[in-house]
Amino acid sequence: MSEALTKYFAKKLIAWHGLDGRQGLPWQNIRDPYAVWVSEIMLQQTQVATVLERYPRFMKRFPTVKKLAAAPLDDVLAEWAGLGYYSRARNLHACAKQVMELFGGKFPSDPALLEQLKGIGRSTAGAIAAFAFHERAPILDANVKRILARLFGIEGAVQEKAVNDKLWLLAQKLLPKNTVDMPVYTQALMDFGATWCISRKPVCISGTKKCPFAKDCQANLSDQVLLLPHKIAKAKSPEFNCDMLLLRHSDSVLLQRRPEKAIWGGLWSLPESTWRVKEKNSASHSKKDEVNLSTKELFKLTLPEEKTSLTLKSCKSTERGLMIKHVFTHRRLWIQIWHVTLSEAVKFSGRDVQWVSLHQLGKYGLPQPIKLLLQGLSLVRGADLKN
Ligand code: ADE
Repeated sequence: MSEALTKYFAKKLIAWHGLDGRQGLPWQNIRDPYAVWVSEIMLQQTQVATVLERYPRFMKRFPTVKKLAAAPLDDVLAEWAGLGYYSRARNLHACAKQVMELFGGKFPSDPALLEQLKGIGRSTAGAIAAFAFHERAPILDANVKRILARLFGIEGAVQEKAVNDKLWLLAQKLLPKNTVDMPVYTQALMDFGATWCISRKPVCISGTKKCPFAKDCQANLSDQVLLLPHKIAKAKSPEFNCDMLLLRHSDSVLLQRRPEKAIWGGLWSLPESTWRVKEKNSASHSKKDEVNLSTKELFKLTLPEEKTSLTLKSCKSTERGLMIKHVFTHRRLWIQIWHVTLSEAVKFSGRDVQWVSLHQLGKYGLPQPIKLLLQGLSLVRGADLKN
């Protein structure tokens, strides 16, 4: 390992940030740990441009950890709608409650304690501790792993424990000596990984900018930049089919709350069939399905058994609707929408199935593809479904 580089890395990176890092973002230069925490969670899997729009709105709606903890989960999920990865919203809510109960509403500054809280991993704990409390705590997200693996020529996949441990030690060793430098250093590391030392077209390869570490970077010196960090082969994500029922009566749609542990957990969606593994190279529905799926069968697949005959009785029309493809991180789902109109609102028991007027849809946290679908409908009817 280059001792010289280890010594001046932080200084050089901070200097780079002064010239080429991202400046003036609303979550920078703040010391309120609540505000820092919300921004870090939102930025985890969401583009900066989207966060720029949604972060101020979230902070306005839930300005303190106390307000967030006291809000109903449904309100938090509805505010999070469209940002994806909803476990983040559920964890935000659970974590806010933990901070109230365990720490009297004050976030701890110790990264080891932060890491005990719901939804805060080791790297996020480091980021919060560095930004809000100027703690000398390292971060190590995927971007930082890439930077370090390249600079120091670290071989092996970052998923391997030994490699990961080595990277954490290195991340600790590289920290600036002065605690006041921790926020800008941490931000610089994030920005350098997100904009210059990027995965496929880093500036040293594209030739668009002169990397300040070009002369020290082991990967650059040995022409290994695109090979580091080593990747493990990824299996192709599996594909599934399902049917969803857009059951309408008058100006209302039937919504069903999804189980907590499922994908889109806790959000409101349309009644759906179980997911079927899609055969390789098959059309999303086989011809046989297309011809034979009767209304009765459709109801059997999507509704509670005791409601199928009553629903069938008041069914005015059934029409095949859009086929929606939705891509998750680890799977792809083809959703066949079925439009069904009823002559009366069949009663469904339980709090988790409700008839909802199109005008009220904005109050419900909906999965993004379902929201877009219903937005189309509500636009036609002049209803109000915001964002
Ligand atoms: N990703 C995670 N945290 C971030 C931050 N503070 N700035 C930019 N991107 C980030």
